Amino acid sequence: MKLFHSVTLIAFGSISLLANEMATIQDVVHNGQTSTKLLMDTLGKNMQMHMKHGGPMEALDFCSQEAYNLTENVNTKLPKGVSIRRISLQTRNPVNAPTEDEAKVLQHLIELQKENKPLPKKVVEKIDNNTYKFYKPLVITKPVCLKCHGDVQDKKLKSEILNRYPEDKAMHYKMGDLRGAVVTTVKK
Ligand code: HEC
Repeated sequence: MKLFHSVTLIAFGSISLLANEMATIQDVVHNGQTSTKLLMDTLGKNMQMHMKHGGPMEALDFCSQEAYNLTENVNTKLPKGVSIRRISLQTRNPVNAPTEDEAKVLQHLIELQKENKPLPKKVVEKIDNNTYKFYKPLVITKPVCLKCHGDVQDKKLKSEILNRYPEDKAMHYKMGDLRGAVVTTVKK
């Protein structure tokens, strides 16, 4: 596995990255950042609207029924060869489980956190000469996330979550925990 993040990118830039590989990575970063923003803005806006309108129960309905469709919809708007999804080592929805290489990247980020090292804002992984993945680490920074991913207090909400996701692993997070990542795959 070949990983680049903010720190290593600079080091590689001055040592061993060929100019054309550097350009490819910059292109991957650009695609990754634009796609991530589009997905997070879309999900975030809708989530906020439902929280305001009907509270966590309505927002839960929205997440479980629409998060997937909205993600697919964002995918149709991305350039050719670019696709996006959310992943986590502790999933609520099993469709968001990482592939083997993605799990390694998440594990790497968790190790960094354990060593009290700052998380990179982005990670680029080279899969092969034509395929790269851009990772945006997702850290729990907003208290609203804990309503459904923390120690869920609301009994009705909790049973509704477990009802929909009997294998839920996505509770008991705390502020600052790594929740997962948004992965953009870029194929040349
Ligand atoms: C109203 C309840 C609710 C709130 C609030 C909420 N989530 Fe979720 N979250 C869900 C549900 C339901 C799913 C599973 C459906 C889906 O989105 O794919 C999910 C899935 C996810 C996933 C995909 C991985 C997985 O476990 O399936 C991530 C990442 C995530 N949430 C992060 C967040 C973050 C970050 C916040 C705060 C900004 C947040 N969530 C707030 C209910 C919630």
